[in-house]
Amino acid sequence: MVKPEKFIEDAKNEIKNTLKGRGILACSGGQDSTLLSVIAGTSENILVLFVDTGLLRLNETEQVKEIFTKFKLNYKIVNAKERFLSNLKGVTDPEMKRKIIGKTFIDVFEEEAKTYGAEYLLQGTIAPDWIESGGQSRDVIKSHHNVGGLPENMKLKLIEPLRDLYKDEVREISKYLGLPEVMPFPGPGLSIRIVGEVTEEKLELLRKATYIVEKNIVEKYLNDKPWQYFAVLLPVKTTGVHGDQRVYGNTVAIRCIDTMDGMTGTFSRPDWELLEKISTDITDEIPEVNRVVYDITNKPPATIEWE
Ligand code: XMP
Repeated sequence: MVKPEKFIEDAKNEIKNTLKGRGILACSGGQDSTLLSVIAGTSENILVLFVDTGLLRLNETEQVKEIFTKFKLNYKIVNAKERFLSNLKGVTDPEMKRKIIGKTFIDVFEEEAKTYGAEYLLQGTIAPDWIESGGQSRDVIKSHHNVGGLPENMKLKLIEPLRDLYKDEVREISKYLGLPEVMPFPGPGLSIRIVGEVTEEKLELLRKATYIVEKNIVEKYLNDKPWQYFAVLLPVKTTGVHGDQRVYGNTVAIRCIDTMDGMTGTFSRPDWELLEKISTDITDEIPEVNRVVYDITNKPPATIEWE
């Protein structure tokens, strides 16, 4: 396990020695890039960029803004919602989605870098990202957006000070810095929790379901929460009944995982009453959903995200 103080000092030195001129720092709002933002984002030659992809959870942009302000970072929030959605139109393949999102992120970063006069891109890539993207000559499991989506001819030079860290180390260092515990949320956002094509309507629905899952889990388990918990929208319609009407509605899966570092994990065992409450809240508050299922698969063989 790394020592937080030493790690932060080394990371700052690495940035100072590598960065010649200006850099932009890609922050997704997740724990990894938020940590990097706080370590590096007070420098006057680094601009922290948060891209609102439209694939985010309810109120996520506001929460990120609060952290940036609290830590006095030099930041900019870019609204790229329409751009991401139009690039994803009609795409159903999960790897394709990740690649498109990675590419769109890079396009936005390159444009912003040009405006800011930056030649460097700082990223919060950590060890599982590149290991699972085939970096250690293993088969590609998933191309994580911050590795797999990088174009070969990218003009920006990369700086990745967190590249040797694992998730538990990121948590430790974040805690040391007084950062709020942010549950891991993938760079491709809700898009990889919508199995199939991403549309604004599906995003709207999944945003509500995600909020219900998070709210119920946080209320029930203050300090003993699962490592990660979320909702997934399945491309499955099933028969149900609303009052005395037959309905044909959507299915939402709930995923709760316990793990040390995200590399392997077991499904959590929340109590039945809580699961029932989540299920009832979802079907009561989202009329388009009439079935809720719980994912009882470990990693491996499943991954944590469904895509
Ligand atoms: P998987 O689904 O690979 O997830 O078992 C392991 C952990 O990584 C997160 N994850 C991602 N994080 N970009 C990210 O920054 C990605 O493309 C990505 N895909 C998965 C996932 O939420 C879990 O915490």
